[in-house]
Amino acid sequence: MTLLPQHTRFRRRATFGALIFTLLAGPQAATAATAAAGEQPESACIQCHETLPDRLGAPVKLWRASIHAENGISCNACHGGDAKDAADAMNRTRGFLGAPKEAEVPAFCGRCHPGVMKDYLLSAHGKALGKGGPNCVTCHGNHRVVKASLELINEKNCSRCHSFERARTIRAAMQQTESYVVGIDARIAGFQAEGVDTDRLGKGLFAIRNRFHTLFHEVDVSLVKRESARIDAELGKLDLELKAIEDARARRRVVGGFVVTGLLLLAWLFHLLKKTYD
Ligand code: HEC
Ligand code: HEC
Ligand code: HEC
Ligand code: HEC
Ligand code: HEC
Repeated sequence: MTLLPQHTRFRRRATFGALIFTLLAGPQAATAATAAAGEQPESACIQCHETLPDRLGAPVKLWRASIHAENGISCNACHGGDAKDAADAMNRTRGFLGAPKEAEVPAFCGRCHPGVMKDYLLSAHGKALGKGGPNCVTCHGNHRVVKASLELINEKNCSRCHSFERARTIRAAMQQTESYVVGIDARIAGFQAEGVDTDRLGKGLFAIRNRFHTLFHEVDVSLVKRESARIDAELGKLDLELKAIEDARARRRVVGGFVVTGLLLLAWLFHLLKKTYD
Protein backbone atom coordinates (compact mmCIF):
# COMPACT_ATOMS: atom_id res chain seq x y z
CA MET A 1 0.00 0.00 0.00
CA THR A 2 1.28 3.46 -0.90
CA LEU A 3 0.69 4.66 2.63
CA LEU A 4 3.13 2.35 4.27
CA PRO A 5 6.38 4.22 3.77
CA GLN A 6 4.81 7.32 5.23
CA HIS A 7 3.56 5.71 8.38
CA THR A 8 6.73 3.68 8.80
CA ARG A 9 8.54 6.97 8.81
CA PHE A 10 6.06 8.24 11.37
CA ARG A 11 6.72 5.21 13.56
CA ARG A 12 10.44 5.73 13.32
CA ARG A 13 10.02 9.31 14.37
CA ALA A 14 7.89 8.18 17.31
CA THR A 15 10.57 5.73 18.43
CA PHE A 16 13.22 8.41 18.11
CA GLY A 17 11.03 10.72 20.21
CA ALA A 18 10.76 8.02 22.87
CA LEU A 19 14.52 7.70 22.91
CA ILE A 20 15.07 11.43 23.42
CA PHE A 21 12.40 11.39 26.13
CA THR A 22 14.19 8.50 27.83
CA LEU A 23 17.54 10.28 27.73
CA LEU A 24 16.11 13.48 29.16
CA ALA A 25 13.74 12.07 31.77
CA GLY A 26 15.83 9.36 33.41
CA PRO A 27 15.30 5.67 34.20
CA GLN A 28 11.87 5.76 35.87
CA ALA A 29 10.21 7.54 32.99
CA ALA A 30 12.23 5.32 30.68
CA THR A 31 10.30 2.23 31.76
CA ALA A 32 7.01 4.01 31.25
CA ALA A 33 8.08 5.17 27.82
CA THR A 34 9.23 1.69 26.82
CA ALA A 35 6.05 0.09 28.14
CA ALA A 36 3.99 2.34 25.93
CA ALA A 37 6.31 2.02 22.92
CA GLY A 38 4.59 1.09 19.70
CA GLU A 39 1.68 3.26 20.77
CA GLN A 40 3.23 6.69 20.24
CA PRO A 41 3.97 7.31 23.91
CA GLU A 42 4.16 11.07 23.46
CA SER A 43 0.65 11.42 21.99
CA ALA A 44 -0.93 14.28 23.91
CA CYS A 45 -4.29 13.33 22.35
CA ILE A 46 -4.32 9.93 24.06
CA GLN A 47 -2.85 11.14 27.34
CA CYS A 48 -5.58 13.74 27.72
CA HIS A 49 -8.55 11.95 26.18
CA GLU A 50 -8.12 8.78 28.18
CA THR A 51 -8.82 10.82 31.32
CA LEU A 52 -12.01 12.36 29.89
CA PRO A 53 -15.50 10.91 30.42
CA ASP A 54 -18.06 9.46 27.97
CA ARG A 55 -18.00 10.50 24.35
CA LEU A 56 -14.61 12.22 24.79
CA GLY A 57 -12.87 9.28 26.50
CA ALA A 58 -14.60 6.29 24.88
CA PRO A 59 -12.75 6.57 21.53
CA VAL A 60 -9.38 5.73 23.15
CA LYS A 61 -10.37 2.28 24.36
CA LEU A 62 -12.25 1.46 21.15
CA TRP A 63 -9.36 2.64 18.99
CA ARG A 64 -6.83 0.51 20.91
CA ALA A 65 -8.57 -2.63 19.63
CA SER A 66 -8.57 -1.42 16.00
CA ILE A 67 -6.57 -2.29 12.90
CA HIS A 68 -5.63 1.39 12.79
CA ALA A 69 -3.94 1.22 16.20
CA GLU A 70 -2.18 -1.94 15.04
CA ASN A 71 -0.82 -0.04 12.02
CA GLY A 72 0.22 3.11 13.89
CA ILE A 73 -2.70 5.23 12.61
CA SER A 74 -3.36 7.31 15.71
CA CYS A 75 -5.94 9.99 16.65
CA ASN A 76 -4.10 12.78 14.86
CA ALA A 77 -3.66 10.76 11.65
CA CYS A 78 -7.45 10.92 11.26
CA HIS A 79 -8.41 14.09 13.16
CA GLY A 80 -5.32 16.15 12.47
CA GLY A 81 -3.84 18.39 15.17
CA ASP A 82 -0.51 18.35 16.98
CA ALA A 83 -0.04 15.23 19.09
CA LYS A 84 3.18 16.60 20.59
CA ASP A 85 1.78 19.79 22.10
CA ALA A 86 -0.90 19.23 24.75
CA ALA A 87 -1.66 22.93 25.10
CA ASP A 88 -2.30 23.54 21.43
CA ALA A 89 -3.11 20.04 20.19
CA MET A 90 -6.57 20.89 18.87
CA ASN A 91 -5.75 24.21 17.30
CA ARG A 92 -7.05 24.51 13.71
CA THR A 93 -3.77 26.21 12.80
CA ARG A 94 -2.07 22.90 13.71
CA GLY A 95 -4.21 21.09 11.19
CA PHE A 96 -6.91 19.96 13.61
CA LEU A 97 -9.99 18.85 11.65
CA GLY A 98 -12.35 17.98 14.50
CA ALA A 99 -14.97 15.26 14.12
CA PRO A 100 -16.44 14.95 10.62
CA LYS A 101 -20.17 15.39 10.03
CA GLU A 102 -22.02 12.53 8.41
CA ALA A 103 -21.69 13.81 4.85
CA GLU A 104 -17.96 14.48 5.35
CA VAL A 105 -17.09 10.95 6.50
CA PRO A 106 -16.29 9.38 3.09
CA ALA A 107 -13.78 12.12 2.22
CA PHE A 108 -12.35 11.92 5.77
CA CYS A 109 -11.63 8.18 5.46
CA GLY A 110 -10.98 8.42 1.73
CA ARG A 111 -7.75 10.39 2.25
CA CYS A 112 -6.16 7.01 2.95
CA HIS A 113 -8.60 4.70 1.17
CA PRO A 114 -9.09 6.55 -2.12
CA GLY A 115 -10.00 3.48 -4.21
CA VAL A 116 -12.75 2.45 -1.82
CA MET A 117 -14.03 6.01 -1.64
CA LYS A 118 -14.26 6.24 -5.42
CA ASP A 119 -16.25 2.99 -5.70
CA TYR A 120 -18.46 4.02 -2.80
CA LEU A 121 -19.25 7.46 -4.26
CA LEU A 122 -20.31 5.85 -7.57
CA SER A 123 -22.60 3.38 -5.79
CA ALA A 124 -26.26 3.58 -4.85
CA HIS A 125 -25.03 4.00 -1.26
CA GLY A 126 -22.77 6.93 -2.14
CA LYS A 127 -25.54 8.60 -4.11
CA ALA A 128 -27.81 8.33 -1.07
CA LEU A 129 -25.18 9.90 1.25
CA GLY A 130 -26.97 12.29 3.60
CA LYS A 131 -30.34 11.02 2.34
CA GLY A 132 -30.59 7.78 4.30
CA GLY A 133 -27.70 5.89 2.69
CA PRO A 134 -24.95 4.30 4.81
CA ASN A 135 -21.46 5.88 5.01
CA CYS A 136 -18.14 4.25 5.98
CA VAL A 137 -18.77 4.32 9.74
CA THR A 138 -22.31 2.90 9.40
CA CYS A 139 -20.71 -0.39 8.31
CA HIS A 140 -17.16 -0.26 9.80
CA GLY A 141 -17.69 1.79 12.95
CA ASN A 142 -15.59 4.88 13.68
CA HIS A 143 -12.95 3.94 16.27
CA ARG A 144 -13.07 0.20 16.58
CA VAL A 145 -12.48 -0.47 12.88
CA VAL A 146 -11.34 -4.07 12.41
CA LYS A 147 -10.16 -6.10 9.42
CA ALA A 148 -13.04 -6.19 6.94
CA SER A 149 -14.67 -9.40 5.82
CA LEU A 150 -17.82 -10.72 4.19
CA GLU A 151 -19.20 -11.29 7.70
CA LEU A 152 -20.17 -7.62 7.59
CA ILE A 153 -22.80 -8.52 5.02
CA ASN A 154 -25.45 -9.94 7.30
CA GLU A 155 -29.16 -9.61 7.89
CA LYS A 156 -28.72 -7.35 10.92
CA ASN A 157 -26.47 -4.83 9.13
CA CYS A 158 -28.07 -4.90 5.72
CA SER A 159 -31.81 -5.01 6.32
CA ARG A 160 -32.04 -1.84 8.37
CA CYS A 161 -32.87 0.27 5.33
CA HIS A 162 -34.03 -2.22 2.68
CA SER A 163 -34.67 -5.92 2.20
CA PHE A 164 -31.76 -8.36 2.55
CA GLU A 165 -32.35 -9.98 -0.86
CA ARG A 166 -29.78 -8.12 -2.99
CA ALA A 167 -27.25 -8.24 -0.15
CA ARG A 168 -27.78 -12.01 0.09
CA THR A 169 -27.04 -12.46 -3.63
CA ILE A 170 -23.84 -10.42 -3.35
CA ARG A 171 -22.73 -12.33 -0.29
CA ALA A 172 -23.42 -15.75 -1.84
CA ALA A 173 -21.40 -14.96 -4.98
CA MET A 174 -18.50 -13.49 -3.00
CA GLN A 175 -18.54 -16.24 -0.36
CA GLN A 176 -18.05 -18.91 -3.02
CA THR A 177 -15.07 -17.11 -4.55
CA GLU A 178 -13.67 -16.39 -1.08
CA SER A 179 -13.66 -20.09 -0.10
CA TYR A 180 -11.98 -20.90 -3.41
CA VAL A 181 -9.28 -18.29 -2.64
CA VAL A 182 -8.80 -19.63 0.90
CA GLY A 183 -8.49 -23.22 -0.34
CA ILE A 184 -5.87 -22.35 -2.96
CA ASP A 185 -3.99 -20.19 -0.47
CA ALA A 186 -3.75 -23.14 1.95
CA ARG A 187 -2.42 -25.45 -0.78
CA ILE A 188 0.21 -22.91 -1.84
CA ALA A 189 1.25 -22.45 1.80
CA GLY A 190 1.53 -26.23 2.16
CA PHE A 191 3.88 -26.50 -0.84
CA GLN A 192 5.89 -23.55 0.34
CA ALA A 193 6.39 -25.23 3.73
CA GLU A 194 7.79 -28.24 1.84
CA GLY A 195 10.26 -26.07 -0.04
CA VAL A 196 8.53 -26.00 -3.46
CA ASP A 197 9.05 -22.73 -5.36
CA THR A 198 5.58 -21.13 -5.20
CA ASP A 199 6.60 -17.55 -5.83
CA ARG A 200 4.76 -17.10 -9.12
CA LEU A 201 1.60 -18.87 -7.92
CA GLY A 202 1.60 -16.80 -4.73
CA LYS A 203 1.89 -13.56 -6.68
CA GLY A 204 -0.90 -14.62 -9.03
CA LEU A 205 -3.21 -15.34 -6.12
CA PHE A 206 -2.27 -12.09 -4.39
CA ALA A 207 -3.28 -10.04 -7.45
CA ILE A 208 -6.54 -11.94 -7.88
CA ARG A 209 -7.41 -11.56 -4.22
CA ASN A 210 -6.76 -7.81 -4.26
CA ARG A 211 -8.97 -7.36 -7.29
CA PHE A 212 -11.67 -9.50 -5.71
CA HIS A 213 -11.74 -7.41 -2.53
CA THR A 214 -12.41 -4.23 -4.48
CA LEU A 215 -15.75 -5.61 -5.67
CA PHE A 216 -18.00 -4.85 -2.75
CA HIS A 217 -18.39 -1.08 -2.37
CA GLU A 218 -20.12 -0.54 -5.69
CA VAL A 219 -22.92 -2.80 -4.34
CA ASP A 220 -23.79 -3.68 -7.93
CA VAL A 221 -25.38 -7.14 -7.95
CA SER A 222 -24.79 -7.96 -11.63
CA LEU A 223 -21.21 -6.63 -11.54
CA VAL A 224 -20.41 -8.82 -8.52
CA LYS A 225 -21.89 -11.90 -10.18
CA ARG A 226 -20.06 -11.28 -13.46
CA GLU A 227 -16.69 -10.47 -11.86
CA SER A 228 -16.88 -13.31 -9.32
CA ALA A 229 -17.47 -15.74 -12.20
CA ARG A 230 -14.49 -14.32 -14.09
CA ILE A 231 -12.27 -14.54 -10.99
CA ASP A 232 -13.45 -18.13 -10.35
CA ALA A 233 -12.23 -18.97 -13.87
CA GLU A 234 -8.79 -17.47 -13.15
CA LEU A 235 -8.64 -19.37 -9.88
CA GLY A 236 -9.47 -22.50 -11.89
CA LYS A 237 -6.20 -22.03 -13.79
CA LEU A 238 -4.18 -21.81 -10.56
CA ASP A 239 -6.08 -24.87 -9.37
CA LEU A 240 -4.89 -26.82 -12.46
CA GLU A 241 -1.28 -25.77 -11.95
CA LEU A 242 -1.43 -26.90 -8.33
CA LYS A 243 -2.96 -30.23 -9.41
CA ALA A 244 -0.06 -30.72 -11.84
CA ILE A 245 2.42 -30.22 -8.98
CA GLU A 246 0.41 -32.57 -6.78
CA ASP A 247 0.33 -35.25 -9.51
CA ALA A 248 4.06 -34.99 -10.13
CA ARG A 249 4.72 -35.39 -6.42
CA ALA A 250 2.35 -38.34 -6.18
CA ARG A 251 4.19 -40.02 -9.10
CA ARG A 252 7.50 -39.40 -7.40
CA ARG A 253 6.11 -40.96 -4.23
CA VAL A 254 5.01 -44.07 -6.17
CA VAL A 255 8.44 -44.40 -7.81
CA GLY A 256 10.05 -43.86 -4.41
CA GLY A 257 7.78 -46.58 -3.01
CA PHE A 258 8.92 -49.03 -5.73
CA VAL A 259 12.56 -48.28 -5.03
CA VAL A 260 12.15 -48.91 -1.30
CA THR A 261 10.21 -52.15 -1.90
CA GLY A 262 12.91 -53.27 -4.35
CA LEU A 263 15.67 -52.61 -1.82
CA LEU A 264 13.79 -54.50 0.88
CA LEU A 265 13.32 -57.45 -1.46
CA LEU A 266 17.05 -57.47 -2.27
CA ALA A 267 17.92 -57.40 1.40
CA TRP A 268 15.58 -60.33 2.02
CA LEU A 269 17.05 -62.35 -0.85
CA PHE A 270 20.55 -61.66 0.40
CA HIS A 271 19.49 -62.83 3.85
CA LEU A 272 18.02 -66.08 2.38
CA LEU A 273 21.15 -66.76 0.31
CA LYS A 274 23.38 -66.15 3.30
CA LYS A 275 21.30 -68.59 5.36
CA THR A 276 21.45 -71.23 2.62
CA TYR A 277 25.26 -71.06 2.32
CA ASP A 278 25.90 -70.85 6.11
C1 HEC B 1 -5.50 18.69 27.27
C2 HEC B 1 -6.60 17.85 26.85
C3 HEC B 1 -6.78 17.52 25.38
C4 HEC B 1 -5.83 17.24 24.44
C5 HEC B 1 -4.31 17.27 24.58
C6 HEC B 1 -6.56 16.88 23.22
N1 HEC B 1 -7.90 16.96 23.43
FE1 HEC B 1 -9.34 16.59 22.07
N2 HEC B 1 -10.75 17.30 23.35
C7 HEC B 1 -10.52 17.69 24.64
C8 HEC B 1 -11.75 18.26 25.22
C9 HEC B 1 -11.92 18.81 26.63
C10 HEC B 1 -12.73 18.18 24.18
C11 HEC B 1 -14.19 18.66 24.23
C12 HEC B 1 -14.27 20.16 24.11
C13 HEC B 1 -13.85 20.64 22.78
O1 HEC B 1 -14.38 20.17 21.77
O2 HEC B 1 -12.96 21.51 22.73
C14 HEC B 1 -12.07 17.55 23.03
C15 HEC B 1 -12.68 17.27 21.82
C16 HEC B 1 -12.11 16.53 20.78
C17 HEC B 1 -12.80 16.06 19.61
C18 HEC B 1 -14.26 16.23 19.30
C19 HEC B 1 -14.49 17.53 18.62
C20 HEC B 1 -15.94 17.70 18.21
O3 HEC B 1 -16.12 18.46 17.25
O4 HEC B 1 -16.82 17.09 18.81
C21 HEC B 1 -11.88 15.41 18.84
C22 HEC B 1 -12.13 14.71 17.50
C23 HEC B 1 -10.61 15.50 19.53
N3 HEC B 1 -10.78 16.18 20.70
C24 HEC B 1 -9.43 14.97 19.04
C25 HEC B 1 -8.19 15.26 19.59
C26 HEC B 1 -6.93 14.97 18.94
C27 HEC B 1 -6.77 14.31 17.58
C28 HEC B 1 -5.94 15.41 19.78
C29 HEC B 1 -4.45 15.38 19.54
C30 HEC B 1 -3.96 16.01 18.32
C31 HEC B 1 -6.60 15.95 20.95
N4 HEC B 1 -7.95 15.85 20.80
C32 HEC B 1 -5.93 16.47 22.05
C33 HEC B 1 -9.33 17.61 25.31
C34 HEC B 1 -8.10 17.36 24.71
C1 HEC C 1 -9.79 5.96 11.52
C2 HEC C 1 -9.99 7.35 11.81
C3 HEC C 1 -10.13 7.76 13.26
C4 HEC C 1 -9.19 7.59 14.25
C5 HEC C 1 -7.85 6.87 14.17
C6 HEC C 1 -9.73 8.23 15.42
N1 HEC C 1 -10.96 8.77 15.14
FE1 HEC C 1 -12.11 9.88 16.39
N2 HEC C 1 -13.59 9.96 15.01
C7 HEC C 1 -13.50 9.47 13.73
C8 HEC C 1 -14.75 9.73 13.02
C9 HEC C 1 -15.07 9.31 11.59
C10 HEC C 1 -15.59 10.42 13.92
C11 HEC C 1 -17.02 10.90 13.66
C12 HEC C 1 -17.80 9.71 14.09
C13 HEC C 1 -19.19 9.51 13.74
O1 HEC C 1 -19.86 10.36 13.16
O2 HEC C 1 -19.61 8.38 14.06
C14 HEC C 1 -14.83 10.56 15.16
C15 HEC C 1 -15.29 11.21 16.31
C16 HEC C 1 -14.51 11.46 17.44
C17 HEC C 1 -14.95 12.22 18.59
C18 HEC C 1 -16.32 12.83 18.78
C19 HEC C 1 -17.19 11.78 19.40
C20 HEC C 1 -18.61 12.19 19.60
O3 HEC C 1 -19.39 11.28 19.91
O4 HEC C 1 -18.95 13.36 19.44
C21 HEC C 1 -13.91 12.24 19.50
C22 HEC C 1 -13.88 12.89 20.85
C23 HEC C 1 -12.82 11.49 18.89
N3 HEC C 1 -13.23 11.03 17.64
C24 HEC C 1 -11.60 11.30 19.49
C25 HEC C 1 -10.62 10.44 19.00
C26 HEC C 1 -9.43 10.08 19.75
C27 HEC C 1 -9.07 10.58 21.13
C28 HEC C 1 -8.74 9.21 18.96
C29 HEC C 1 -7.46 8.46 19.28
C30 HEC C 1 -7.53 7.55 20.40
C31 HEC C 1 -9.49 9.06 17.71
N4 HEC C 1 -10.63 9.81 17.79
C32 HEC C 1 -9.07 8.29 16.63
C33 HEC C 1 -12.41 8.83 13.16
C34 HEC C 1 -11.25 8.49 13.83
C1 HEC D 1 -4.39 8.32 7.93
C2 HEC D 1 -4.75 7.24 7.07
C3 HEC D 1 -6.05 6.50 7.36
C4 HEC D 1 -7.30 7.06 7.56
C5 HEC D 1 -7.68 8.53 7.59
C6 HEC D 1 -8.20 5.94 7.64
N1 HEC D 1 -7.53 4.76 7.50
FE1 HEC D 1 -8.34 2.90 7.47
N2 HEC D 1 -6.49 2.06 7.35
C7 HEC D 1 -5.32 2.77 7.26
C8 HEC D 1 -4.20 1.84 7.28
C9 HEC D 1 -2.72 2.19 7.17
C10 HEC D 1 -4.75 0.55 7.42
C11 HEC D 1 -4.01 -0.78 7.57
C12 HEC D 1 -3.44 -1.25 6.27
C13 HEC D 1 -4.51 -1.76 5.38
O1 HEC D 1 -5.11 -2.78 5.70
O2 HEC D 1 -4.80 -1.09 4.37
C14 HEC D 1 -6.21 0.73 7.43
C15 HEC D 1 -7.10 -0.31 7.48
C16 HEC D 1 -8.49 -0.16 7.39
C17 HEC D 1 -9.45 -1.23 7.27
C18 HEC D 1 -9.13 -2.72 7.22
C19 HEC D 1 -8.73 -3.09 5.80
C20 HEC D 1 -8.66 -4.58 5.59
O3 HEC D 1 -7.68 -5.01 4.96
O4 HEC D 1 -9.57 -5.30 6.02
C21 HEC D 1 -10.69 -0.67 7.21
C22 HEC D 1 -12.02 -1.40 7.10
C23 HEC D 1 -10.51 0.75 7.31
N3 HEC D 1 -9.17 1.04 7.41
C24 HEC D 1 -11.55 1.68 7.32
C25 HEC D 1 -11.39 3.03 7.56
C26 HEC D 1 -12.47 3.95 7.84
C27 HEC D 1 -13.93 3.57 7.93
C28 HEC D 1 -11.92 5.18 8.00
C29 HEC D 1 -12.61 6.47 8.38
C30 HEC D 1 -13.39 6.45 9.62
C31 HEC D 1 -10.47 5.04 7.82
N4 HEC D 1 -10.19 3.71 7.57
C32 HEC D 1 -9.56 6.08 7.86
C33 HEC D 1 -5.18 4.14 7.15
C34 HEC D 1 -6.22 5.06 7.34
C1 HEC E 1 -22.75 -0.98 3.23
C2 HEC E 1 -21.62 -1.24 4.09
C3 HEC E 1 -20.27 -0.62 3.78
C4 HEC E 1 -20.00 0.72 3.54
C5 HEC E 1 -20.98 1.88 3.42
C6 HEC E 1 -18.56 0.82 3.41
N1 HEC E 1 -17.99 -0.42 3.55
FE1 HEC E 1 -16.01 -0.86 3.47
N2 HEC E 1 -16.42 -2.84 3.44
C7 HEC E 1 -17.68 -3.40 3.61
C8 HEC E 1 -17.58 -4.83 3.44
C9 HEC E 1 -18.74 -5.85 3.53
C10 HEC E 1 -16.23 -5.14 3.17
C11 HEC E 1 -15.59 -6.52 2.92
C12 HEC E 1 -15.50 -6.78 1.43
C13 HEC E 1 -14.66 -7.99 1.11
O1 HEC E 1 -14.35 -8.79 1.99
O2 HEC E 1 -14.29 -8.12 -0.08
C14 HEC E 1 -15.52 -3.86 3.19
C15 HEC E 1 -14.14 -3.70 2.98
C16 HEC E 1 -13.45 -2.51 3.21
C17 HEC E 1 -12.00 -2.36 3.20
C18 HEC E 1 -11.01 -3.46 2.92
C19 HEC E 1 -10.90 -3.57 1.41
C20 HEC E 1 -9.76 -4.36 0.94
O3 HEC E 1 -9.22 -3.95 -0.11
O4 HEC E 1 -9.43 -5.39 1.54
C21 HEC E 1 -11.72 -1.04 3.44
C22 HEC E 1 -10.36 -0.38 3.51
C23 HEC E 1 -13.00 -0.35 3.57
N3 HEC E 1 -14.01 -1.28 3.43
C24 HEC E 1 -13.14 1.00 3.81
C25 HEC E 1 -14.34 1.69 3.61
C26 HEC E 1 -14.44 3.13 3.47
C27 HEC E 1 -13.28 4.10 3.54
C28 HEC E 1 -15.76 3.41 3.25
C29 HEC E 1 -16.39 4.76 2.94
C30 HEC E 1 -15.86 5.49 1.77
C31 HEC E 1 -16.49 2.14 3.29
N4 HEC E 1 -15.59 1.13 3.48
C32 HEC E 1 -17.87 2.00 3.17
C33 HEC E 1 -18.83 -2.71 3.92
C34 HEC E 1 -19.00 -1.33 3.76
C1 HEC F 1 -28.35 3.26 6.33
C2 HEC F 1 -29.17 2.56 5.34
C3 HEC F 1 -28.56 1.41 4.56
C4 HEC F 1 -27.82 0.33 5.06
C5 HEC F 1 -27.43 0.05 6.51
C6 HEC F 1 -27.52 -0.51 3.92
N1 HEC F 1 -28.04 0.04 2.77
FE1 HEC F 1 -27.95 -0.75 0.90
N2 HEC F 1 -28.99 0.83 0.16
C7 HEC F 1 -29.44 1.92 0.90
C8 HEC F 1 -30.06 2.88 0.01
C9 HEC F 1 -30.71 4.21 0.44
C10 HEC F 1 -30.00 2.33 -1.30
C11 HEC F 1 -30.51 2.98 -2.61
C12 HEC F 1 -31.99 2.73 -2.75
C13 HEC F 1 -32.26 1.28 -3.01
O1 HEC F 1 -31.80 0.76 -4.05
O2 HEC F 1 -32.90 0.65 -2.15
C14 HEC F 1 -29.33 1.03 -1.16
C15 HEC F 1 -29.09 0.14 -2.22
C16 HEC F 1 -28.47 -1.08 -2.09
C17 HEC F 1 -28.25 -2.01 -3.18
C18 HEC F 1 -28.72 -1.85 -4.62
C19 HEC F 1 -27.69 -1.15 -5.43
C20 HEC F 1 -28.12 -0.97 -6.85
O3 HEC F 1 -27.35 -0.32 -7.60
O4 HEC F 1 -29.18 -1.46 -7.23
C21 HEC F 1 -27.56 -3.08 -2.68
C22 HEC F 1 -27.11 -4.32 -3.42
C23 HEC F 1 -27.34 -2.80 -1.26
N3 HEC F 1 -27.90 -1.58 -0.93
C24 HEC F 1 -26.63 -3.64 -0.43
C25 HEC F 1 -26.42 -3.40 0.93
C26 HEC F 1 -25.60 -4.25 1.77
C27 HEC F 1 -24.87 -5.48 1.32
C28 HEC F 1 -25.67 -3.71 3.03
C29 HEC F 1 -25.02 -4.21 4.29
C30 HEC F 1 -23.57 -4.44 4.25
C31 HEC F 1 -26.49 -2.50 2.94
N4 HEC F 1 -26.90 -2.35 1.65
C32 HEC F 1 -26.77 -1.67 4.02
C33 HEC F 1 -29.33 2.07 2.25
C34 HEC F 1 -28.68 1.20 3.12
